[in-house]
Amino acid sequence: MDKIRIKGGKRLKGEVAVSGAKNAALPILVATLLSRGEHRVQNIPKLMDVATIKRLLNHLGAVIEDDGQGGWTVRMPALARHEAPYELVKTMRASVLVLGPLAARFGEARVSLPGGCAIGARPINLHLMGLEKMGAEIQIEHGYVTVRAQRLKGARIYLDLTSVTGTENLMMAATLADGVTVIENAAREPEVVDLAHFLIRCGAKIHGAGTDVITIDGVESLNDSCTYRIMPDRIEAGTYLTAAAITGGEIFVRGCNPRYLDAVLQKLREAGVQIREETDGARAAATGRIGAVDIKTLPYPGFPTDMQAQMMALMALSDGLSVITETVFENRFTHVAELRRMGANINVQGNNAIIKGTQRLSGAPVMASDLRASACLVLAALAAEGETEISRVYHLDRGYEQIEQKFSNLGGEITRIT
Ligand code: UD1
Repeated sequence: MDKIRIKGGKRLKGEVAVSGAKNAALPILVATLLSRGEHRVQNIPKLMDVATIKRLLNHLGAVIEDDGQGGWTVRMPALARHEAPYELVKTMRASVLVLGPLAARFGEARVSLPGGCAIGARPINLHLMGLEKMGAEIQIEHGYVTVRAQRLKGARIYLDLTSVTGTENLMMAATLADGVTVIENAAREPEVVDLAHFLIRCGAKIHGAGTDVITIDGVESLNDSCTYRIMPDRIEAGTYLTAAAITGGEIFVRGCNPRYLDAVLQKLREAGVQIREETDGARAAATGRIGAVDIKTLPYPGFPTDMQAQMMALMALSDGLSVITETVFENRFTHVAELRRMGANINVQGNNAIIKGTQRLSGAPVMASDLRASACLVLAALAAEGETEISRVYHLDRGYEQIEQKFSNLGGEITRIT
């Protein structure tokens, strides 16, 4: 298994281009299942999760041409199977996104039920409740959920919790339903909006994406072809901006939309980092010590849970005491124990992490436990004295494109050991 070795203490400087957003690419690629046509999707990041979705789409019968430059042509002429098997769902929970499109277009979907994962139980009850409201019959047996429907019907669906993939699954299903569907307390994440824009380009009738009420007027079928460019990854962008902050450097992240990073940029500014929003990206520069700030994760437009771990690495080196409260997932502090091994002073009480900033972290062998926890360890290692070896980096490869190369270009000493 690959490891990443980092020699810390370098100020990172320069420019980095942000890749396409993983969390927009996954649902958009799945949404190609909704029609027979030929879809050209661009700016697809080269990531392990994207490779998994490709395997899943191929397994279902999709024909995919990859130009090797982030552009795919996807066609789904006929369905080979209705099923997302355990082997794929267990490596990537987002595989459950096929439920809505398969049920809507082919009347049946069978998906292995995802179990819990490193960051929490993560049930899919809201996805299923919504599909049931749309007239689908749901059956759970032998670890699989089967969804059947002659034709889904428009419905009013209220989500108890704002679920990102739940909203996406139901929005996709509703595009081909008979009648109008209203999703209330919908997720407002920019990736939900990106998916809506893709679907609209394919002929879907969707209003209100980006607000907490999304209305979808079902159509008989979607267009035969469309071309779409995936939005830039705001979490990857936020990670590089935090890298500038933690190493006392200056980084321009080209291609990110600062508007989608409001909560993160505000916290970085509060911590004393100079942030400049530019038309084609955002710049972070850190000169003095980092101030301690309190953070609470929330659904968008609140502070993203996917930036919580990276921010904790920064707070570990701050001047003072900060409290990070995780409200989205119940178990998203697995990076704490690893940060402590590097000298961080962090105490966890329930869903609060109390961080007493320290002057220095020191390199140590550490283990990545999930995607964003891995990014947190990379940031901590870049700032730490000495050498850090991070194992289980496959987590990192799920969500960061060419991370060693990008950090090396910024002056970081980072190598992969295979
Ligand atoms: C998506 C993102 C992930 C991000 C998360 C929160 C993708 C592919 N992944 O994950 O990177 O960390 O949003 O921003 O876009 N819940 C239920 N029942 C459900 C669905 C969710 O109880 O049916 C709960 C979850 O356990 C969690 C909360 O709702 O506590 C939010 O989860 P959700 O927004 O669904 O996360 P994902 O869509 O899985």
